[in-house]
Amino acid sequence: EKGGWSSFMAKEISEQPEAVLKTLLGRVENKKVVLPDLGVLAEHLEAIDRIVIIACGTASYAGMLGKYALEKWARIPVEVQLSHEFRYEDPVLTPNTLVISISQSGETMDTLMAVKYAIEAGARTLSICNTQGATIARESDAVIYTHAGPEVAVASTKAFVAQIAALYLFGLHLASVRDTLPAAEIAAALDELQAIPAKLEKVLLTAPRIRELAGWMSDTRAVLFLGRHVGYPVALEGALKLKELAYIHAEGFAAGELKHGPIALIEPGQPVFVVVPSPRDPNSLHAKVVSNIQEIRARGARILAVAEQGDAAVLPFADEVIPIPLAGALFEPLLAVVPLQIFAMELATAKGLDVDQPRNLAKSVTVE
Ligand code: M6R
Repeated sequence: EKGGWSSFMAKEISEQPEAVLKTLLGRVENKKVVLPDLGVLAEHLEAIDRIVIIACGTASYAGMLGKYALEKWARIPVEVQLSHEFRYEDPVLTPNTLVISISQSGETMDTLMAVKYAIEAGARTLSICNTQGATIARESDAVIYTHAGPEVAVASTKAFVAQIAALYLFGLHLASVRDTLPAAEIAAALDELQAIPAKLEKVLLTAPRIRELAGWMSDTRAVLFLGRHVGYPVALEGALKLKELAYIHAEGFAAGELKHGPIALIEPGQPVFVVVPSPRDPNSLHAKVVSNIQEIRARGARILAVAEQGDAAVLPFADEVIPIPLAGALFEPLLAVVPLQIFAMELATAKGLDVDQPRNLAKSVTVE
């Protein structure tokens, strides 16, 4: 079933271009989003005044990316909550609140209970789910299925990129319904999305180099991940992957937070992955992250940068640059996450660990 791959995870990482392609299939026509999946929810979209995204683990990081996209495109306030915290916060929910749950399995008990809570409180519910007919999908008013195909490895990879694609489709659809984005910008964003599968193929070609790096780092005790804006959830995801697969202490930070404490952790030789925004970023985040790199480099950090190909500003300060193809800011995470997935898998392999079935973990967490 692994089709020649050494693990399901390796296979699923390689299937990411297809996971995105299939999630978009039939949902983009004439530069517009077509989502018949929304069913009864479609007629309520104009009245929605707030969105709460609920999910756990990797799915929650897809949710964070969904927040950036939905707020930017549809100009609607979005909050992201861990499913298991949501109910206990006595959340404000009305019939105009849309609660979007994200779950690969569709069976995560924490998320299911949160969805049921939202339904009882009278909110509208939409689920983004990778498993046909799963409980969370059946409970929700509507479901947008991600078509990543079955994900077997405990560590989520292809489901994550498919979740981002589904959220972005929904965001662009909402923008069109609410008239918050000109048709030309929607069309351009859809072009970006449709270009992702081919770009993912290119990122996958970095795998041999990442395997080498990971091989040299098998006795590493801690790895830090930095990112900013959409790079921040990518940093969190990189750290989660490394914890669960390689049992290495890993932490993701928003790069701007460094000087507020975490920079104290930097000592000579400390590996730090940095997800670098594109130098074309209109908010000058690129320059800010490059200056973060310089600060930690001066304190001896070993910098592993995931940066846009041709980003010359990073080169002098990084020990290693893993290049990703050019993409619009919101779309970079779909590419930048892949080297971090591969790194975690290869480091776990170098340590002789089972990457498909890490200790203490189950693929689907069906207890609260
Ligand atoms: O099936 P779900 O998407 O609801 O699962 C959510 C998390 O349990 C899951 O993403 C978990 O964090 C993964 N093992 C991460 O790789």
